[in-house]
Amino acid sequence: MGDISGKRVLVREDLNVPMADGQVSDDTRLRATLPTVTELADRGAIVLILAHFGRPKGPSAEFSLHQIVAPYAAVLGRPVHYVDWEGDAAAVAKLQPGDVAIVENTRFFGGEEKNDPATVARFASLGDLYVNDAFSAAHRAHASTEGLAHVLPAFAGREMEAELDALDKALGNPEHPVAAVVGGAKVSTKLDVLKHLVDKVDHLIIGGGMANTFLAARGVNVGKSLCEHDLTGTADEIFAAAEAANCTIHLPYDVVVSKEFAANPPSLRTCNVHEVAADEMILDIGPAATEALADVLKNCRTLVWNGPLGAFETPPFDTATVALARTAAALTSEGSLVSVAGGGDTVAALNQAGVADQFTFVSTAGGAFLEWMEGKELPGVAALSR
Ligand code: 3PG
Repeated sequence: MGDISGKRVLVREDLNVPMADGQVSDDTRLRATLPTVTELADRGAIVLILAHFGRPKGPSAEFSLHQIVAPYAAVLGRPVHYVDWEGDAAAVAKLQPGDVAIVENTRFFGGEEKNDPATVARFASLGDLYVNDAFSAAHRAHASTEGLAHVLPAFAGREMEAELDALDKALGNPEHPVAAVVGGAKVSTKLDVLKHLVDKVDHLIIGGGMANTFLAARGVNVGKSLCEHDLTGTADEIFAAAEAANCTIHLPYDVVVSKEFAANPPSLRTCNVHEVAADEMILDIGPAATEALADVLKNCRTLVWNGPLGAFETPPFDTATVALARTAAALTSEGSLVSVAGGGDTVAALNQAGVADQFTFVSTAGGAFLEWMEGKELPGVAALSR
């Protein structure tokens, strides 16, 4: 990058944080920006943070990044300026080397999501250099995530580098054996992930509602569990592909069931997967299966995790997810496992288990993490490599 003192650096960050009652309810993404933003500011750059917030249809107070300025300043521990799209050039001209500013929501321009050259040029006019630090938005080929890399000298930020490095260790160039945990409600949303993983990993652990579709494909009666019966044929194809690739698919052989989906329901019981009654639903994997999965992880060197094993928001259906996450964390602390996790629900589950800090790397990405697990090229990353 050379001497950047006095240079205006457009830094694409992901400030798309969850809000509750007007407050930032999880500031992980804000904290993830700190290495890049503080380094650039300390090197005397004028740091202009470009980001989207929500999915606005045009300018609106609801989606204004103005509301993130104060919480961001608190996390950064320095003053943060705000640049509105009205009068942006004049506002930027007043900034001094070392200043940090948040520029208003890039999605207030219709051309952002279309990657329209006029919008790219408009953004580019504010800066001398471009740094993309938003891995979690890199699956979008938008003006601020992709287009700018073609018109300004472009660099990867520190969080972007850390994400790419961790993901490479997990799936690109991992130490074997590799295990993947893929959970979540529906197979239909993760078909491409599963198809890609069977060729990459040695053990594929399927949990959540998705596991029910695979159990049904194996002839198990899953009662009134969440199950995509129309996808059992696809599940069969994945079984066949896994066998051909020498990948072992792990499904639970004991499960926690209940007649109603509620916290600590009276009808809660644990049973063999072949003993689920017609009026029961599977809501978590059972203790014996959890134990067996812990043994799988003990024999692996690398773990990539996306999605919970049970209906973890409702107790006690978080039990298996929490237990396996703690096993993974302990193995990571001992140095025998590289553990990488990503996806909104996954990070919430690891936080619930109190182990997010002990994983080797927890991605800030949701959709981008999934697309990466599907083996897709992420446009924001591809533009930087070129
Ligand atoms: C995310 O929250 O996953 C990223 O910020 C991308 O947001 P988007 O799905 O609205 O493009």
